[in-house]
Amino acid sequence: MRKARQFVATISCAAIGSLLLGACATTPMTGTAAPVTAAPASDRTAVPVTQAQPDWARSNPEMNTFISDLMAQMTLKEKIGQLTLLTSNWESTGPTMRDSYKEDIRSGRVGGIFNAYTAAYTAELQRLAVDETRLKIPLLFGYDVIHGHRTIFPISLGEAASWDLAAIEQAARLSAVEASAEGIHWTFSPMVDIARDPRWGRISEGAGEDVHLGSKIAAARVRGYQGDDLAATDTVVATAKHFAAYGAAQAGRDYHTVDISERTLRDVYLPPFKAAVDAGVGSFMTSFNEVDGIPASGSRYLLTDILRDQWGFDGFVVTDYTSINEMVPHGYSKDLKQSGEQALNAGVDMDMQGAVYMDHLAQSVSEGKVDQAAIDRAVRRILEMKYRLGLFEAPYRYSNVERQEATIYRPDILEAARDVARKSMVLLKNEGGALPLASTAQSIAVIGPLADSKEDMIGSWSAAGDRSTRPVTILQGIRERAASGVNIGYAKGASYAYGDAGKDDGFAEALALAQKSDVIIAAMGEKWDMTGEAASRTSLDLPGNQQALLERLVATGKPVILVMLSGRPNSIGWADENVPAILHAWYPGTMGGHAVADVLFGDYNPSGKLPVTFPRNVGQVPIHYDMKNTGRPIELGADNAKYVSRYLNTPNTPLYRFGHGLSYTSFGYSPATLSTASMTAGGSLTASATITNTGKVAGEEVVQLYVRDLVGSVTRPVQELKGFEKVTLAPGESRTVTFTLRPEDLAFTRADMSHGWEPGEFQLWIAPVSGAAASVPVGFTITE
Ligand code: BGC
Repeated sequence: MRKARQFVATISCAAIGSLLLGACATTPMTGTAAPVTAAPASDRTAVPVTQAQPDWARSNPEMNTFISDLMAQMTLKEKIGQLTLLTSNWESTGPTMRDSYKEDIRSGRVGGIFNAYTAAYTAELQRLAVDETRLKIPLLFGYDVIHGHRTIFPISLGEAASWDLAAIEQAARLSAVEASAEGIHWTFSPMVDIARDPRWGRISEGAGEDVHLGSKIAAARVRGYQGDDLAATDTVVATAKHFAAYGAAQAGRDYHTVDISERTLRDVYLPPFKAAVDAGVGSFMTSFNEVDGIPASGSRYLLTDILRDQWGFDGFVVTDYTSINEMVPHGYSKDLKQSGEQALNAGVDMDMQGAVYMDHLAQSVSEGKVDQAAIDRAVRRILEMKYRLGLFEAPYRYSNVERQEATIYRPDILEAARDVARKSMVLLKNEGGALPLASTAQSIAVIGPLADSKEDMIGSWSAAGDRSTRPVTILQGIRERAASGVNIGYAKGASYAYGDAGKDDGFAEALALAQKSDVIIAAMGEKWDMTGEAASRTSLDLPGNQQALLERLVATGKPVILVMLSGRPNSIGWADENVPAILHAWYPGTMGGHAVADVLFGDYNPSGKLPVTFPRNVGQVPIHYDMKNTGRPIELGADNAKYVSRYLNTPNTPLYRFGHGLSYTSFGYSPATLSTASMTAGGSLTASATITNTGKVAGEEVVQLYVRDLVGSVTRPVQELKGFEKVTLAPGESRTVTFTLRPEDLAFTRADMSHGWEPGEFQLWIAPVSGAAASVPVGFTITE
């Protein structure tokens, strides 16, 4: 249960710094859990202030005394040790390694270890801390459990395409169950970065381009990882990362500069982080990028003014991998000692892998560059989390070999992974009912570099997932599902390696197989590590020689079904024009091959919808559904007009819109109706539409609510998602879906930088997809 809490948030001129604000407000704000409405101009908050406090953060006098007593015994070196997180040498997820980590643990110079798992190994390392250090403070074990631990679920972007919050929460829950059984206390997930540039490889790790969907998913994942009780041994502390605006890297190049307006920061990039705080997330991770000239790990504005003072975040902040050190090459710190001071003073509690705090912070304290009190605050936050996890009482409580053996790859976890995987798949095109596969197909050719590739099924950031034996490939899934007597042939045919463009080594074999088959399943896309960290691309096309093979396969005249495995939107315009059916399957995880077969054979009716826009070509990027109208929009039907905002060679519209996704059935939407055409402060309205399954099979539909604020004190997007609901309908069945809207749901950062709604006229759509043409809008007004 949440408790309302008093807050005091003061934003000073200094805190706002160089931001382009109007008059600088210095008014302290106090309040309780009242919804945010039109705020007076002096209430300048990044997004509404948090007032709820998660259960785990409730005050605990016993804990406070315990920690105060402990801290009274700690030397400065031991305190700094608690602020240091090092990787084990089991795995490396970044560029530098510190091999002496075991010695560092023994000497009390480390508070946490990441990239170490299994009950036995975490217990072994814990023993070093508990038996061999002076104060016996247990270690915290962190790990990148992003979309599964051993059993790998679909990549995060794929899960987002399910628009199924319960399934997403359950995936996180089960990931925590597996990870915690291997001694993990803390996951570096969810990644809640809004991503609108498919060139950026890390688009695969988040929930896509949309603020509303991204915020809902952020909260669902936090709830899933942390469960109801952080102290339970099958829950883990979640981390909202990467704070902030990492997804806005210029030109989609990873780690690149971020230069966005303060308004865009507040309205687009911050809300999912705020949603994570509201859901009770226990930790935050800083990002590698700079924001408005200040590296995130040195940004007091982000880490203290917004996160602590405005949002009331109670957990601890860890850096991303060596990001304190990176403030030197950023050109923000003259040396590591200064970067450590800047980070600590900005609000970073824990230094991941950089050893900057370890090596320099004591000297900074002696020089008066860092206050002892600031160090104590950070240490207290780390110790509090250890206490809340129950580690002081029982340091080995998560490292239980029997539990590990009984948990990992549990049948129900594998089954859940299969279920989320099929829910994540998006049927982009299905001409003439090409899918599901006809039962008359007596021979199926499964072709392509991703058809029988175990390592690719689980995508990047696959934690302790096994890449070589466990994953079920598409070929395997089809073989197991196809009726006996159906002939399944396989040829790799093509390659996704960049260097292989222009080669045609495997084409002959693939074409021969295609010729003698009734239907071709072309499994194509990107190699698993073409998305994820440090995996940006300047092209969204099919890499290698896949496109050439696809064209040859289509030329055989046999029906081709394209199954795409990829962690980003790809520009597959040729396929869209020439291939009858396209299923985007992301990287579907350990059980992926079964899930693909479930969809291809119609055992599961696809229900995924795109959480991100698919551009026609990379030149359209950035392209997202909630763009602005401009002063020279293209008028309907005037696509070739001069002096309007358009390209000469490509339409403005994307290949596939945000929210797009087909089903094996069809759905009809009634016109939307409103309970009232006008609302005022404190009021609300409901918007309803009746959705009917007009086809022949049962199906699920994601019903989407979009709103446009027609005139604002600043220009507003052409549409914004404000709600969605996934409904299941039998053939012929109808359901009325009702959304409630309040003025505060329409809040944004106004011209004076205050957060709130504005009176005026609005349009509203209830539709199966984004885009003004998807349904007939209805109008409403908000009056003061
Ligand atoms: C990534 C983080 C990750 C960390 C620890 C970094 O390189 O940016 O997302 O959590 O490594 O592995």
